Order: sequence, then structure tokens, then C-alpha cells
Amino acid sequence: MKVLVVGGGGREHALAWKLARSPLVREIIAAPGNAGMARFTRTYPVPAHDIEGLARLAEDQECDLTVVGPEVPLTLGVVDLFEQRGLAAFGPTRACAALEGSKWFAKDLMLKAGIPTAAAVATTDRDEAVSFARDMGYPVVIKADGLAAGKGVVVARDEREAVAAIDDAMVNRRFGGSGEMVVVEEYLEGEEASILAFTDGQRFGLLVPSQDHKRALDADGGPNTGGMGAYAPTPVVTPEILNAVTDEIIAPTIEAFSSIHGLTYRGVLYVGLMITTDGPKVIEYNCRFGDPEAQVTLPLLNGDLAAIMLSVVNGELDPSSVGVSPGHAACVVMASGGYPGKYARGKVIHGLSDAEAMEGVTVFHAGTDLVDGSMVTAGGRVLGVMGRNGSLADALGRAYRAVDAITFEGERHRTDIGYRALSRQET
Ligand code: AMP
Ligand code: GLY
Repeated sequence: MKVLVVGGGGREHALAWKLARSPLVREIIAAPGNAGMARFTRTYPVPAHDIEGLARLAEDQECDLTVVGPEVPLTLGVVDLFEQRGLAAFGPTRACAALEGSKWFAKDLMLKAGIPTAAAVATTDRDEAVSFARDMGYPVVIKADGLAAGKGVVVARDEREAVAAIDDAMVNRRFGGSGEMVVVEEYLEGEEASILAFTDGQRFGLLVPSQDHKRALDADGGPNTGGMGAYAPTPVVTPEILNAVTDEIIAPTIEAFSSIHGLTYRGVLYVGLMITTDGPKVIEYNCRFGDPEAQVTLPLLNGDLAAIMLSVVNGELDPSSVGVSPGHAACVVMASGGYPGKYARGKVIHGLSDAEAMEGVTVFHAGTDLVDGSMVTAGGRVLGVMGRNGSLADALGRAYRAVDAITFEGERHRTDIGYRALSRQET
């Protein structure tokens, strides 16, 4: 079959890379894709938010399946539009994508279904938000209700920081309409983990549990980013915790869509967890694959991604088709200097073919462009270098040896991906 992949980051490169390994897939095209994807797919300059343009492309190109990477087209209703046109698209409908598009929709579903999560209240009134924060006690978490490209969450250590975050969202309207309502949430302590599940709205199959590194600098310092690296499996998710997440979080979330909202959630369900001393609690849901979690969970997926996705779209997922391969995967993000703030573009990338020739290494592109035959930087997160091997230390060793082989002006990356898991092994 012919598959359209929507999006152009490292996650979408990983999706296309895994789809290309399916015997069912004859051809992959991407919109807009990136220079790494362009080496094995045809790319079309249709932006991911242009859902009409995407439907036209899928129709013109006679695609059998469309795989949507980012959240924005999902919350705009790309899957609903494709369904209306008789086109198959993998992902939740607009109403179901509210799980990520509105933090309060998600919180309300969790409260009604008894799913473990942080206590929270929501308001559209600035003064009420400030008094909710005071009542909750510090630290407290202030979240813009709507999508804010990962920048809408602030952990406020005191009243001054809480008021600044509330005013930023509600008075200065930094996130536009996304900050009209804010959620004031209890601060949870623990280690974070991400668990992704394929679901057809009834049955589900889990990908390997992973851990992302959201802060820009080593030892979790500096500002939040889209994600600077990830590894899987993560030992913080023990078999007991995985059982608890399955029974108390994943299954009831899928069930709540139909029992509370009369909806069927189909696609991938991303659960962001805090593993607290009281057990796992949800800190966020996403309605799509994580980036960079996809770059480590898909290489460890023992199954035919195209077949799994088709069965999800058709409402006939066989959970046993979603297997997990043994071993570990680790991904190190190479970013432009200055990211997540301002950064330069157009810096020539050297050493890619040496890195790609290394055993057990795959280089996923995120922000790259091909200009006059040279691969150059074109985004904040430039590459995701993935290493795979039996142990985590060996997977990280492969990833970092490949990172060392690649250079571009201003390049920076974290040197401590997987450190929590490695220090656990030592103790
Ligand atoms: P989110 O966009 O909801 O994933 O939040 C971004 C980051 O903020 C998370 O990865 C956590 O590190 C942190 N965070 C969000 N909610 C909480 C919470 N209730 N307690 C502690 N940290 C949180
Ligand atoms: N890596 C976090 C996310 O994709 O939202």
C-alpha cells in the first residue's frame, strides 16, 4: 500500500522508517517531511496544519493510509475530514484529540473515571486562579488549558512565580486563546515515564515504556524543550507499575471515552506519568506519539507498524500483534546552539555518513535541509541519533559514538541521557 506520513520532525522520520520495514508498504510519501525522510520518501510542501491540503494530497496520490504525527492537525479534525472523504487516517478524531487539546477535558475525564492524577481546579478568572494557587500551596503547577507547543506549563515555587505564570497566560495572552482558562494543579514528586498504547477504542497493545529528558541541560537544568533525548525500556516502570498503569490508567481511559462521552478513541494514546510513592499518576495525555519517545519505542516494536495501524483504523486491533523486542534503545538529540531560544539555521552538518555506517545506529532527522547538495541545519532540534544494543549502557555508547562523529557549528546535546537508569543499576 501507499502511505502518507504527516509532519516533518524526528518522530515522523522514525514513523516513516518503521513503516518502510513493513512488507505491506510499497511507497511512502511525506508532507512536509524533512531532508532525512526525502532520501526514501517523496516529500510534498503541504504544512501539517493545512488539513484540506492534506486531504487533497492523499486523494490525488491515492494513499491507502495516512499517519498523522503532530497534535495540531488532529485537534483541527484531520481524521474527521479524511473519514468524510472516505480516506483512511490513523489517529483520534477531533473530539477525542481534546484529551491533549484541553488539559481540563483530560482532568475532568480522569476525575470522573477515578484515574489517579494530581488534584486540580480550572478557572477563566485571573484573581480566582491566584487564590486557587494560594490554597493549593507551593510549589504549584500552572497550566494553560489549550495547546501551547509544550511551553504552557510552569512549576511555580512561590506566589510570585505563580502570579507571573497566571498573568502570562491570562493577561498577557502569551498562548492566545489557549490561556483563557488555566488549570491550577497539585505538584507531584517522583520520576517521570511515558507509556504509549495503540488502541482501536476497545483493545489496546502497549509499546515499551520510555523516559524523555525535557530540560535543555545536563542534570535536568535549564529551560523545558520539546525533548533532548530518550531511552527505553525505563527501569522506573517495573512490572508491578506496568500492571497498575494498564489496569488503573490505560484501560479506564479508553473505557471513559465511550462511557462518559460516547466516543471511540482510536490511534495512539500517550500517557505521561509521575511515578510517585503512592503509585503512578497521570500528569498529561497526548493524542499522538511522543517526540523523541517514538525514536526509541518504534525501533523496539516487534510488529508490523502498517498492519497494526490499519487494524486500529478498522477497529480490529489484535493486541498480540504489538510485541516488544528485547534490548535497549537510546536517542540523543543534537540541537542548534541557543535552542529552545533563538538559534541560527543553515549550518553545514558533517560526519553523517560515518555515523550512519556504525553498527546499531540510526540517525533520525528533525530540522535539516538539503541546500546545493549539502545537508544543513533548519530547526532547533536537528538530529536524533539512536543507538540500539542489548544493555542500556551499550545502546548509549553506540548513540554517543555516533554523536561524536557528527559536527555542525553551534551544536549542543545533553551528555547524560539515561543517567537515572544507569545510577539505579549502580546502586
Ligand atoms: P506537560 O506539558 O503537562 O507534560 O508538563 C510539562 C512538564 O511539567 C512535565 O513533563 C513535568 O515535568 C512537569 N509537570 C506537569 N505537571 C506536573 C505536576 N502535577 N507535578 C509536577 N510536575 C509537573
Ligand atoms: N516528548 C514529549 C512529547 O512528545 O510531548
